[in-house]
Amino acid sequence: EGDVFKYYTDGEWKKSTSGKSVAIINPTTRTTQYKVQACTQEEVNKVIESSKIAQRQWAKTPLWKRAELLHKAAAILKEHKAPIAECLVKEIAKPAKDSVTEVVRSGDLISYCAEEGVRILGEGKFLVSDSFPGNERTKYCLTSKIPLGVVLAIPPFNYPVNLAVSKIGPALIAGNSLVLKPPTQGAVACLHMVQCFHLAGFPTGLISCVTGKGSEIGDFLTMHPGVNCISFTGGDTGIAISKKAGMVPLQMELGGKDACIVLEDADLDLVAANIIKGGFSYSGQRCTAVKVVLVMESVADALVEKVNAKVAKLKVGPPEEDCDITPVVSESSANFIEGLAKDAKTKGATFCQEYRREGNLIWPLLLDNVRPDMRIAWEEPFGPIVPVIRINSVEEGIHHCNASNFGLQGCVFTKDINKAILISDAMETGTVQINSAPARGPDHFPFQGLKDSGIGSQGITNSINMMTKIKSTVINLP
Ligand code: G3H
Repeated sequence: EGDVFKYYTDGEWKKSTSGKSVAIINPTTRTTQYKVQACTQEEVNKVIESSKIAQRQWAKTPLWKRAELLHKAAAILKEHKAPIAECLVKEIAKPAKDSVTEVVRSGDLISYCAEEGVRILGEGKFLVSDSFPGNERTKYCLTSKIPLGVVLAIPPFNYPVNLAVSKIGPALIAGNSLVLKPPTQGAVACLHMVQCFHLAGFPTGLISCVTGKGSEIGDFLTMHPGVNCISFTGGDTGIAISKKAGMVPLQMELGGKDACIVLEDADLDLVAANIIKGGFSYSGQRCTAVKVVLVMESVADALVEKVNAKVAKLKVGPPEEDCDITPVVSESSANFIEGLAKDAKTKGATFCQEYRREGNLIWPLLLDNVRPDMRIAWEEPFGPIVPVIRINSVEEGIHHCNASNFGLQGCVFTKDINKAILISDAMETGTVQINSAPARGPDHFPFQGLKDSGIGSQGITNSINMMTKIKSTVINLP
């Protein structure tokens, strides 16, 4: 019983009355690493009630004070980077150094929210009526941004801390309260992160963290009438949530099938380095990973050779040893990835490396000569497998990219900036990177997906705006 991490509500760590727990399986050892409380729906009700009460006071707390507390939380988080990173290593098998980076990046993100918040929320608008036909200057309109209320944050396993604070920071600075439902893998890292907010001295009830089974409390949370905004990052579940949620603003970042279009004049060393970084970092478990390479036939052999040389140098093994390729998050994920590889094999893709798997650990694999009838051409492996499709025209590449149901990011490699911009305009994705792999950061950049990749735009500024609404007061002159 002592092993089960408590959930956080009303400024306290509590045991669930369910008496049940959820096990977190270490992807490397495939044994139970930690246990968290399996909260009940009744507990969720109480958490949301407290959250609502705390929010009313918080909305009246001066902006500069909110900012001060966020800065404090950021500093405490950075001080505790080692134990939190340790959880990431054990719960999600993120390489040791990347785990530390995730925590530090999260601290920076929180501080940036505080700074951006005091500026953008410190300004309102003043409008006069006589610019609209038929009106005299008899009405003055004052607008400001007010909080939405209770924000529900649901981050995914791949950045449990960073994608939690990317929701928490904007929500809190804007005067909202926040209920966090961490992913099971990554829940303990989240609980530690929440403890940093606790230590910073936020008011009781303002932040809560409920853990448990999605099947028990997932829909209950997302359909809860007390929730005023949902910020979700993850997979298909987001589509289901959007269909069931009430009339509340939704911010969603779902999957991606980010294409990397390589033109004939591209710097192939640069491309190869970016395919490695973009396709294989955190073993491909990033929504913004390079998930299909679309390369002009004339340079394809040369590119594949360069990428293969780099794949051979990737260190494969446990996250504790800071290997490049580490076990994927779960056995079912590894099985899914294997299914994609087998399908490609049957349909005749060229395996540049031998397919190899031990437990959840899958060796990095480049698949050449992938064709559109293979699942890997369209599906998101979320693993260390990168397909290469050879194209004979740029249009063919753009067409493949746009035929996807996803539209998160994409990238194009060429020395011709005019071509790059035309291709960027033609690609139906939220962002196009010119001469670099897709990436969400720097964290104040707008981040959005088209089609099944999401709803709304993130990035610090956009998230703060999204978590507020406009309030107007109109002064009517005699
Ligand atoms: O997995 C989705 C993340 O939002 C991607 O973030 O580009 O920093 O890896 P990243």
